[in-house]
Amino acid sequence: MGSNVTESVQLRVVDVIEETSDAKSFVLEAPSSLSYRPGQFLTIEVPSNSGAKSAARCYSLSSAPHESDLLKITVKRVRDGYGSNWMCDNVEVGHTLKALPPSGQFTSRQVSSDLLLFAGGSGITPVLSIAKSALANGAGDVVLFYANRNDASVIFASELSELAAKYPDRLIVIHWLESVQGIPTVTQLKNVVRHLSSYDAYVCGPAPFMAAALTALDQLGFPRERKHHERFISLEGNPFDVDEAAHEPSSSETVGEVIASIASEPPARAFRVSGEIGGVSFDHDDWPSDQVLLDFLLKKKLAAPFSCRSGECSSCTYRIVEGSVKMIGNDVLDDEDLNDGLRLACQSLPETDEISISYEF
Ligand SMILES: Cc1cc2nc3c(=O)[nH]c(=O)nc-3n(C[C@H](O)[C@H](O)[C@H](O)COP(=O)(O)OP(=O)(O)OC[C@H]3O[C@@H](n4cnc5c(N)ncnc54)[C@H](O)[C@@H]3O)c2cc1C
Ligand code: FES
Repeated sequence: MGSNVTESVQLRVVDVIEETSDAKSFVLEAPSSLSYRPGQFLTIEVPSNSGAKSAARCYSLSSAPHESDLLKITVKRVRDGYGSNWMCDNVEVGHTLKALPPSGQFTSRQVSSDLLLFAGGSGITPVLSIAKSALANGAGDVVLFYANRNDASVIFASELSELAAKYPDRLIVIHWLESVQGIPTVTQLKNVVRHLSSYDAYVCGPAPFMAAALTALDQLGFPRERKHHERFISLEGNPFDVDEAAHEPSSSETVGEVIASIASEPPARAFRVSGEIGGVSFDHDDWPSDQVLLDFLLKKKLAAPFSCRSGECSSCTYRIVEGSVKMIGNDVLDDEDLNDGLRLACQSLPETDEISISYEF
């Protein structure tokens, strides 16, 4: 069993809420040790439809940490999609879901900031969590631009009106219906939010909507550090199906076979890596050249964040402070991120003798 599997959690479904005709929320009871930041997501194991042991899908938490000890995820059916329909068709009260602990970088850290939130369709889930937390714990203003196909597809319509009534001076919700106004263009988005260019922006939704919102923010001069986005993709890799024992002798291998297999591989060099994760400092000089940083840190029992383990989700992002690493794959960080020193731990192999990293950014 892989280390990620031993670190997975069991979540009991205590309520299922029909949000719209094609979206359901699942309320989950979690171990008391489990904490999360608004905007983070769970990685849920679903049975496989392809002969593999299982598959994994990410679902953002639509609950906010201050509300209750219960977690809530909200799943919108994707046409011909496997995992979302499996969740909506099969998960019932009393079931237990296997999940990786909450992770993700799409999260607000400055509770006092003014927030400009763009959500399209199911992209409302992390955005709602961020909005509720900011309203409850901060003092800033929140403007939410929320686009949907039509009236009936608006998830959390009544929760949003209740919030708007509770915070009339701090929250503005702008509903945009494609059935009424068409798909919002870059110019329209800019016109709606141009007076908010000092706010912290968060964007989540379907790809064309996100592209338009991010272009609008760029054209309005939002700097990179005040522009955050989350892409909803389906994981191709399966973090529940990693075989940690792959490099360890199995009980059926003889000592001779193990020595012969080791002798045929070039010896791994050891590198030094230091830094801090969750307040715990580390300094190790035995990071093997053929092991990705995430596996090395987990083996050292450090609480390095992760989800997909395949370069697709950005949960394992860290910053290089000194030295350099080679990334063997990367589907999520763009040139701006890389120039800024950001790297994915699940894809990093050591390159220089001494490497210093940070998970604080
Ligand atoms: C960080 C993160 C957070 C997320 N949060 C949420 C959330 O809060 N709520 C939510 O609803 N979703 C969320 N998602 C998206 C979610 O993880 C899934 O991607 C989504 O539910 C679709 O999964 P699926 O298995 O139903 O679709 P899939 O089966 O993965 O299919 C997706 C699309 O690809 C097409 N497709 C599938 N197989 C093929 C093929 N072989 N060839 C061509 N096309 C194909 C399907 O028709 C469908 O249109 C999140 C994703 C991420 C990464
Ligand atoms: S764990 Fe998903 S990109 Fe590394």
